[in-house]
Parts: sequence; structure tokens; C-alpha cells
Amino acid sequence: MKKCRGNLLDVWILVLLEYVLEREGRTLYTENPVKDAVIFCKAFLSNQLAKFAPKLYVKLTHQTGRGGEEGDGSQVANYFFMCFDDYLKQLGVKIEHVESYLKNKLILEYGPGDILGVALLFYAYGAETVHCVDRFPLSKMSEKNIDIYVQLLNSLGGKERKRAEAVFKEKGNPASGFNEHCIRYKVTKNGLSGANNAYDLIISRAVLEHVNDLKETMFDVKRCLKKDGLSLHEVDLRSHGLDRYTDFDFLTWPTFLYALMYSHKGFPNRWRVSTYKELANSSRLHVKELKPTGRLDQSKLSFIRPKIAKEFRLISPDELSWLGFWVHLEHA
Ligand SMILES: C[S@@+](CC[C@H](N)C(=O)[O-])C[C@H]1O[C@@H](n2cnc3c(N)ncnc32)[C@H](O)[C@@H]1O
Repeated sequence: MKKCRGNLLDVWILVLLEYVLEREGRTLYTENPVKDAVIFCKAFLSNQLAKFAPKLYVKLTHQTGRGGEEGDGSQVANYFFMCFDDYLKQLGVKIEHVESYLKNKLILEYGPGDILGVALLFYAYGAETVHCVDRFPLSKMSEKNIDIYVQLLNSLGGKERKRAEAVFKEKGNPASGFNEHCIRYKVTKNGLSGANNAYDLIISRAVLEHVNDLKETMFDVKRCLKKDGLSLHEVDLRSHGLDRYTDFDFLTWPTFLYALMYSHKGFPNRWRVSTYKELANSSRLHVKELKPTGRLDQSKLSFIRPKIAKEFRLISPDELSWLGFWVHLEHA
């Protein structure tokens, strides 16, 4: 009986979806309409929860910012070393020169996730101070996270370890919270810093593809970056598990349906590299470097391209194929 009621509901949602799509003159790429109706319904409901009770949504979904499977504490600690290493590679700074590079530098990290591991490493290696800003209150001192901070401390030696210990209110004790002179964490509306001409270096990894208002975030970068500062971002353009049948089919949901399902949850905003270039330009930021981190196979792209939402149809096949990229921005 329960199953029958479930099936009836699926059919009703399906009929409703088809009606709405027809009215809008749009179609949805699907290989299993009932499955997609259920996906829509669940996503719509959780989006309402995220809209009206964001803290509860974060709590119920146990978000870390790093996705699902992540292994034990030492693997997570290694992830932060890898992120730090990637930033140094992008900056072209060798580890032996990092202290002099970071000296007196004020750094902003957008969207650090639940552990401020990257901030801790930047401070440990010589930054003056690191500010982190997020749209969601993910950072917390849970038992697991405290263990990861301890692993990070234990992986450092000499003066880096001493500096890393100082980021906590009580030296070397993560449970005491962060010493705001070293690392400051803020949750703000739309994850914006609101600062002016404040930072030498701005960083983010796997964040810009989640921001709800990319235009505003780009303006925030422009406003808070010092005149000779640099802003470095790694952007992941993949679907984050939202593809249903084939790669990039999350781009086939009409934009209004996609917004109904995901707009309040920090899910991918779907903007492609072409939009990043336009917004950098309109914010008067100069794109100093832009490199793809991977491309979707051409045969997969040619299958999905005719089915994607109309906002993406004018994007060149090359730019549409990008799976992610690194971008370096500075003042124009
Ligand atoms: C996929 S996680 C990446 C976390 C971390 N950077 C990492 O590499 O593990 C995305 C992060 O972006 C944050 N975020 C989402 N929307 C944002 C916004 N508008 N401004 C700043 N951060 C945002 C999320 O809360 C989360 O911390």
C-alpha cells in the first residue's frame, strides 16, 4: 500500500513537471522520467529546508565541504598539505622561499569548509594573518576536527610548528578555538568579506562554483584585494554527483528547475569558464592566468551539447568541455 502511494506521488510529480515544462516551452533530457521526478521532488524539499532553516540543513547533512568519503584524520591532514602545495605551485614559490614570500602578507580564504587547515598552514609558514569567510557556518571544533588539527601540528616541525601552535587561543590546543590575531573565521551574507583594499593574497579552492552570486563575489574580490595583490582560485566545473545518466547532464535541467532544486544549498551554480571571464572583465579584474585542469571527452560533449539548458548553448565547445580551471586575478 505504502509503495503504491509512493508510485502515485511520483506520477503526480511527473505530470506536474511535464505541465510546467510544456508551459515554458522547454524539454528535459531524461532516460527515466519517474526517477527524475523523484530527484526533483527530494531536491526541491531539501532546498526549502536550506532556505528556511540553513543551520538545521547544515547539521542534518553533516557537511564538511570536502564531499563524501575522505578517510581517517591523517588523510584529511594530508589533503590540506596537498592544497597548500598546490597554492605554492600556482604562486611559483618554492618551500624554501615561502617564509619570505608570506612575510607581512594578509590573506583571505573564501569557503574554507569545516576545517581551517589551509589557513593554519599559511600562518605556520609565515603569513601575517589569515581571514576566512564563508556563507555557511561549517567550521567547528568537533572531536574529529580537533584530531585533524593535532595531526597537522604533529606534521610540522621547528618554527612552523611553533607558529601553528599560536593560532589557537591556548597554545597548541585546538579545543580552545582560534586566536583571532592569527586566524579569523566569519560567516557572512553570501560569503562576502565586505573589506576594502585589505588583502595581499586571496585564495579559494572548490568554492567559486558554489557561490550563489558570482557577480557579487567577483566585486568583493576586486574591492578587498590590495592594489598589487593577487587572487588565486581553483574552480571545479564537474557536477558534484548531480549527473543522472552521463557526464555534464546536470547542465540539461532548465535553469528555473535547477534553481528550485539547488539554489539555497551551496550546490554548483553551473557557471562555465566563459562567465568567469565576463565577470572578471566587468569587475575590472585582469585575468593574469587561466588554465583548464581537464576537459570532457569530445564524444561525450557532442552527445550532451544539444540537450543543455539554453543559457549554455552559445558557449564554444572548447570552453564547454572544461572540467575545471585555475585562475589568477589581479587589478586591471
Ligand atoms: C566544496 S567546499 C570546499 C571547501 C574547501 N575549500 C576545500 O577545498 O576543502 C565549498 C565551500 O564553499 C563555501 N561557500 C558556498 N557558497 C559560498 C559563498 N557564496 N561565499 C563563500 N563561500 C561559499 C561552502 O560553505 C564550503 O565551505
